[in-house]
Amino acid sequence: MIYSDTIGVMDSGVGGLTVLSELVKVLPSSKYIYFGDTLNLPYGCKTKEEILFFNRNILNFFLTLGVKDIAIACNTTSALTYEDLKKEFTPRGLRIFPLIHSAAYDAASGLKDGDCICVLATSATAKSGKYADEIQKINPNIRVVEIPCPGFVEIVENRRYDAKESYLAVEEKMKIVLENNAKRVILGCTHYPYLLDLLSKFAPRDIFFNPAHSLAKAVASVVKNTETAGDVDFYVTNNPDEFKRSGKMFFEINKEVQLVKMPVFSQV
Ligand code: DGL
Repeated sequence: MIYSDTIGVMDSGVGGLTVLSELVKVLPSSKYIYFGDTLNLPYGCKTKEEILFFNRNILNFFLTLGVKDIAIACNTTSALTYEDLKKEFTPRGLRIFPLIHSAAYDAASGLKDGDCICVLATSATAKSGKYADEIQKINPNIRVVEIPCPGFVEIVENRRYDAKESYLAVEEKMKIVLENNAKRVILGCTHYPYLLDLLSKFAPRDIFFNPAHSLAKAVASVVKNTETAGDVDFYVTNNPDEFKRSGKMFFEINKEVQLVKMPVFSQV
């Protein structure tokens, strides 16, 4: 079957489902294919070389299905490999929408010179400096502090919102946010919108910014809503049952999740 009107959504696992749910809000009657690279997660501690290898396989998979519009529902991929993927796959007919680049303009809007934006992210995203690069293209005088938050994904996946260690881990990172007097805090990992209750114990809720809203807006500005009833197919590279079980907290998965075999990364 050729899915030319379909939007492909890709992430390492379940986190990108938070982005899918924002896309469905703005384009409810589109058809979606969600791809979770569960064999290779987490991406947040992998090298660029590895992530590029995984991403190429996924984009080739979308190409074989005839899917042309791809939302990168992963900050780590947007940070590390988007530019390479764009160069390689745009000439092959794909239109790729990344999280970070879509969010930079909205994240900077309403702020003035000297204001600070903090970014909570995986180690790989924070280390890449990509949020700072993109935001400072909009306004070079905004200060951007990128804060690696290892362990935050696990708090969400294990739903340990009430655990003392989770509170302390979040408090430690929010101290940096408060010291910098941040005017805005970007939830720079797809799991983090689920930490909002915990995060907003330390700062007002309205300073937190979810890049998925900007990505959804960017996709909706060029992809037309179809006349069909919205529907999502799910593909993963490992353990479909576990994906369905843990993904349910982010998105209603009411059909079978299909397993795809992909080439395995090996160092040369
Ligand atoms: N979805 C990834 C992101 O937004 C986080 C999970 C991972 O490390 O694979 O960066």
